[in-house]
Amino acid sequence: MTRAVIIGSGSEIAPTRVTNEQMARIMDTSDAWIRERSGVEQRYFATPEIATSDLGVGAAAKALAAAGVAKQEVDMVVFATMTPDHYFPGCGTILQDKLGLRTVPCYDIRQQCSGFLYGLQLADAQIRAGLARTVLLVGAEVHIGFMPWTNENFAYAIGASDVPPTKQEWDWISRVRHLVVLFGDAGAAVVLRATEDGERGVVDHELHGSGADYEKLYVPGTGSRYRPYTDPEQFRRGDHMPVMDGRYVFKMATTSMVEVARSLLAKHGVRPEQLKLVLMHQANKRINEYCAKALGLREDQVPHNIHKYGNTTAATIPLLWDECVRDGRLQPGDLVLMVAFGAGMTWGASLVRA
Ligand code: ACO
Repeated sequence: MTRAVIIGSGSEIAPTRVTNEQMARIMDTSDAWIRERSGVEQRYFATPEIATSDLGVGAAAKALAAAGVAKQEVDMVVFATMTPDHYFPGCGTILQDKLGLRTVPCYDIRQQCSGFLYGLQLADAQIRAGLARTVLLVGAEVHIGFMPWTNENFAYAIGASDVPPTKQEWDWISRVRHLVVLFGDAGAAVVLRATEDGERGVVDHELHGSGADYEKLYVPGTGSRYRPYTDPEQFRRGDHMPVMDGRYVFKMATTSMVEVARSLLAKHGVRPEQLKLVLMHQANKRINEYCAKALGLREDQVPHNIHKYGNTTAATIPLLWDECVRDGRLQPGDLVLMVAFGAGMTWGASLVRA
């Protein structure tokens, strides 16, 4: 039976490192609060010339090199992001062009923090169906465009300007302090290849979506709910920025991630202790510690990197995969569970034999 195996990965981190202390220069927050409540210690943000597709291209080029796959061999692209370069088109074809791929089918998918898992299921299904042999799956985000600060405020935060925010600017940023301290910019990619090897490959997925409470985590403005889809009034209200009910999302994430992980493992008769690694979406370290405890996982099974990068949305899981491969924690043949929860609401799990 044909299955899809991950044969290479790569990641591209945005260049500007911003510590929690630097964030506290432009809003009412502190290193202690951010660390304790989320586990984030620093994040990286993209400079103005870098868009989401650029981080995706950097990550994809490294993933192809790691896999030893030539660009001509790629026969499908799946690009997951909630922060595309443009309203349309999506980043898939932009990446195809920048990377110099053949004119292969390019899917753009959303699903926010669950984007990589939805993309993995799509790529796996295409390979199993014989519609593609080599798929490039990319998750990348440039969140800084959402952020409420001005370029001058940001320059002050990182020590590149002596002009502090005005009281009005400080209050405006602090209004969404629970949200903006969590995110960072990065891209990560994997190459999936058809294999007849009965041992290795993607085993199965369980995905869910429910829009009932989508307004608990969403961007209210700049969409077809409005005529025109964007206008200065929306920007004055801040409707171009995400809103998030943090406590609600926290509760939903812990419940759903544990449930979906248990369900997929039970379906395949896998006990948690048999897993080499569990790669959880990196939105909040406390969410993942809760899930790890509920699932009875050992500490060595649950790698974290949120302290270094913050939440990089669709990039978190492939970034963690790539880091674990590079530091030797993940070897071919290891059984890995990936679990995520994100806006939509969307959630899911994938079981993979590396
Ligand atoms: N700095 C200092 N104080 C803060 C900050 C901040 N950055 N943010 C909030 N606070 C304050 C609040 O104002 C509140 O003060 P009060 O008690 O005086 O009213 C206090 O801290 C507690 O606020 P809570 O919101 O209850 O804090 P909580 O412990 O829930 O942590 C957080 C907030 C980190 C946002 C948490 O709820 C969380 O991680 N939620 C889930 C996030 C998530 O998983 N998102 C999904 C992925 S994103 C996606 O899909 C796009």
